[in-house]
Amino acid sequence: MTSTTREIHLASRPSGWPTHENFRIVETALPKPAPGQVAIRNTVMSVDPYMRGRMNDVKSYSAPFALDAPLDGGVVGEVIESNHESLQVGDTVLHGLGWREHAVLDANKVRKVDTTGVPASAYLSVLGMPGTTAYVGLVRIAELKEGDTVFVSGAAGAVGSVVGQVAKNLGAARVIGSAGSPEKVSYLIDELGFDAAFDYHEGSVSKQLAAHVPDGIDVYFDNVGGDHLEGAISNMRDFGRIALCGAISQYNNEKAAAGPRNMGLIVARRLALRGFIVSDHNDLAKEYLAQAAGWLADGSLKFRETYVDGLDNAVDAFLGLHRGSNLGKMLVRLV
Ligand SMILES: NC(=O)c1ccc[n+]([C@@H]2O[C@H](COP(=O)([O-])OP(=O)(O)OC[C@H]3O[C@@H](n4cnc5c(N)ncnc54)[C@H](OP(=O)(O)O)[C@@H]3O)[C@@H](O)[C@H]2O)c1
Repeated sequence: MTSTTREIHLASRPSGWPTHENFRIVETALPKPAPGQVAIRNTVMSVDPYMRGRMNDVKSYSAPFALDAPLDGGVVGEVIESNHESLQVGDTVLHGLGWREHAVLDANKVRKVDTTGVPASAYLSVLGMPGTTAYVGLVRIAELKEGDTVFVSGAAGAVGSVVGQVAKNLGAARVIGSAGSPEKVSYLIDELGFDAAFDYHEGSVSKQLAAHVPDGIDVYFDNVGGDHLEGAISNMRDFGRIALCGAISQYNNEKAAAGPRNMGLIVARRLALRGFIVSDHNDLAKEYLAQAAGWLADGSLKFRETYVDGLDNAVDAFLGLHRGSNLGKMLVRLV
């Protein structure tokens, strides 16, 4: 086992868009695992939009990252030393100490994953937190019904791409997605089976959406906020449901953004808007995994992953996520 390893620390808190100066790569000693612990060589780590919020020093559902300490987040890897009977050297595992090349932690904080038929990275994407978020938002928060017309923003990303496909699999009549490039729009229609999609750079969200769904939408799954939320509200049918999952268009704003200008329609159309955090709904994870395994097997759930190589480029991967350089889940390959 190696005696040193590398990790990424938060050097200062970003204001607006993060820069490389906000992060530092640190070489550090790798401790031997104590009784009950394992040592893991991390192979693929996740970068996620919620991590931007944790870089601010504000109280939220997830604690802020500490300064001059390693960041953390979802990661998969291989056990290289084990002091606990539940895990063997060579096991592939999922855990929460990403942003570093190795991790030593208690075995009870590590989950062994089954890599028959799927790469380990799937547990960071379609079979992991983003996939479960899509399912929770559609099924529990938006209460998707057969025959619904569904609009999802950020549709070519990790959560959004699962939302569209799962909505179809659960009986949505029509699924429309928005994304940031013509290539992403083609991917949604040609590969993922969306009924329609548009590039939000090509005109107002509200007008583009209306052109595809003149009769309106029943469900909006919001990954973007801002103009997307406003455009969706304008196109909701009476008694429509909106699952507020995220607002990535606003995460790097220096000042809080103004709300949608058409909030009056929420009353007029008797809409229900509900925010959610996936970790409050862990009881649905098993149900989703069982369904997703079937859909992956029959080809009705497809997924893509975009890779950036090496811990040295992890910050670029994180920034790229906010610029739309990912198709599907953004991941960092560490070995
Ligand atoms: N509530 C929860 O529990 C929960 C859990 C997971 C994720 N989330 C939220 O879900 C959303 C998607 O997360 P993800 O992990 O699946 O990320 P992702 O969609 O894979 O990646 C982020 C995408 O956001 C799009 N984007 C960036 N800036 C934008 C802007 N100004 N306007 C419109 N689109 C923009 C980019 O795609 P384009 O090229 O299309 O612009 C980018 O690829 C985020 O808001 C995240 O915070 C919430």
